[in-house]
Formats: sequence, structure tokens, C-alpha cells
Amino acid sequence: MTSPAGPQGPPDFENARTRRQKARAAGLDPNHWYAALESKELRPGQSQEVLFMGRPIAVFRGEDGAVRAVENRCAHRHLKLTEGQVVGCKLVCAYHGWAYDGEGRAHIPHDLFGHKAPDLRIGTVPVKERYGLIFIFPGDPERATLRDIPAIPELEGNEPWPHAIVRFDCPGHHSMLIENVSDFTHGFLHRKFQPFEGMELLRCEEVGDRVELEYRSKIAAGRFQDVFINRSESACDHMLACYDYPYHWSNTDDRIKHFLFVLPEAPDRNRHFFIFYVRTDTIRLPLIGPRLPRRLVHLMMQATRYTTLKPLLSQDVWVIRHEQEAWEQHWDKPAPELSPVVRAFQNLAIRKWEEHLARSPKAAAA
Ligand code: FES
Ligand SMILES: [Fe+2]
Repeated sequence: MTSPAGPQGPPDFENARTRRQKARAAGLDPNHWYAALESKELRPGQSQEVLFMGRPIAVFRGEDGAVRAVENRCAHRHLKLTEGQVVGCKLVCAYHGWAYDGEGRAHIPHDLFGHKAPDLRIGTVPVKERYGLIFIFPGDPERATLRDIPAIPELEGNEPWPHAIVRFDCPGHHSMLIENVSDFTHGFLHRKFQPFEGMELLRCEEVGDRVELEYRSKIAAGRFQDVFINRSESACDHMLACYDYPYHWSNTDDRIKHFLFVLPEAPDRNRHFFIFYVRTDTIRLPLIGPRLPRRLVHLMMQATRYTTLKPLLSQDVWVIRHEQEAWEQHWDKPAPELSPVVRAFQNLAIRKWEEHLARSPKAAAA
């Protein structure tokens, strides 16, 4: 990924000198599954463009309900296929009607003027749906079967934990977001909501492709949230968090958990999806207590999206936008970093990107 700010802007990965410059220039290894859309955003017969590090991908749902993804470029004159429409299970280019199936093969509907039907194909992108999200595998399609979407057993089966998905389009480099979510020193930003109280970092450890963290902190400490948390069996004050490359997750007392999926759209923007999920008996209602039906708690989680999660996390998106602006202007100035968490996250992101470049010389040249 090249600099978003032109020749005077921050250096690319090869020319970056400091750890922070490298972390801000690093991409994410495409050979993982990345959440790109919520399932509900793509009805049968619809298509949408998504970007992975600047690469346009057309994701479409056929009339059969299955999702497919292809390069967003007609093999004829390279128009964006998402400007066309889905017909049956094919994505049809708006100009001459060439129709693309899930294998990327072009079906030409008009006169061939005596030519044999050409065997034209565009690139395809493996795609899967799980947990209410559509995931793409933007790397080498042959490696897609070697990796899977991270397992979230709590969201599977007939009685999934009550949960809520929150999506953001965030104008900042993906590393800023990943650092933000596990760096509890920014509680000041959220002082109105108090999502955590009394933070103490107990452990920060780099283990293989993960950075594991352990925090002592009262979660959901704000006055409004606190009345809905049942702390009779556990205080919900011990959190494991992890940068589990390229994902992020947390687990508080095996009761309150989240997964974060980040899509690096471009050097200066990302799309991300949080899934928050809670064990049903973690939630209580004043006067009624904690024994609530799972469906009711699920509805309460949906309400929480609007009352707490979106307003709270919007503060992070807002601040990351400003961090991105500040980065483009002041990238060469020192930025004293006190938190070992941020340093560890940056080290992991840089190492993984170096490993990817070493395996893919084409990505290094881009
Ligand atoms: S440009 Fe797509 S069919 Fe001609
Ligand atoms: Fe935050």
C-alpha cells in the first residue's frame, strides 16, 4: 500500500524507519478470511463493491441465496461489474451484458461475428457466510481451504448467546484501530460512558502470532450499563484480550466477549465489525433480576447497539479519523509510546507483513 498523502506524506513500508512508521505502512496478510459485509446488507439479486487494500471486489448474492465474489472488472472493457445487475446467479455488466458466474467465467449474450465463444475469466474470491457476516479470502484462493474463519462456538447451535453486530466505516489505518481497542489508557476519551474502570494491565505477552493481554478492570462500569450487569456470581472485572492476527477478541469472566474483524480497505481507511456476545445470565433487569429469557436478552443487546455500543464506539472512529489526519501531517515527529500493548501490537503487525512480503514478491513491488 502506498502513502495516502502523496510524495510528502508518510513513508511506505520499505522506507519506514521507526516502528510506528512501519506499523502505519503495513498491510494485512490477504491469506486470511476478512469480514466485508453484514449478511443482511446483501439480499438476493444485489451486489456491492468491497475493497481489500485498494483491490475492488464485487460481492453478489444470486437469486438462489448463495453469495459469490469476483474481481470487480468486466473482462471486456473493464467496467465495474457492480454498475450492472444480478440476473439469476450471474453478475451482468451494464454495457454489453456479459454475464459472470461464480467461477468468473464470462457468458457473452450478443453476436460473436463468427468467432468461437472465447473462454474469458476474471479472478474469483472465495467467500463464506457465518455469524451474520460475509467473509472474503482475498489472498491465494488455493490457500482458502487451509484456513478458516475463527470459531465462535457461543454463536453456533440452536441457542447462540445473545449478541449484537456493530459495523463502522472508519477513516484511519487499520493499525490505529487495533491499537485503540486494547489500549485501555484511552479511557479518558470515553469518560462519559465509562466502559471500563480501574484498569490494571496484568500481562502482555507475545505468543506466536498472538499478543495476549490480561487486564483487571471493571467492565461496563458506566452508571447506565452497570444496572444491567449481573455481578452476583462474578464481578466481570477480569478480561483476557488478544490480538489474534489479524483479528482481535476479548473475554471477560467467560461472560462478556467480543470479536473484532477489520477489513483494510485502503491505507487510510478500514471497515470493521464488532460482534459482542454475552452469556444470558450476565444480563439483569432492575426489579426483575437476571433470570431472563435468552430471546429477551438478545433484544436487549439489539437495543444496546443504539444506547451504548454505537455512540461509544463512534468516539473511537471519530478519534481515529483525527489520528489519521495527525499522522499524515506529523508522521516524522516523535510519538512517545508508554504502553507495552501498543508496542507489542505494532511488532506483531510488522512481523506478519514482513513474512507476507517475503512469501509474495509481487506484494512487495506493489
Ligand atoms: S464492458 Fe462489460 S460487457 Fe462490454
Ligand atoms: Fe475506545
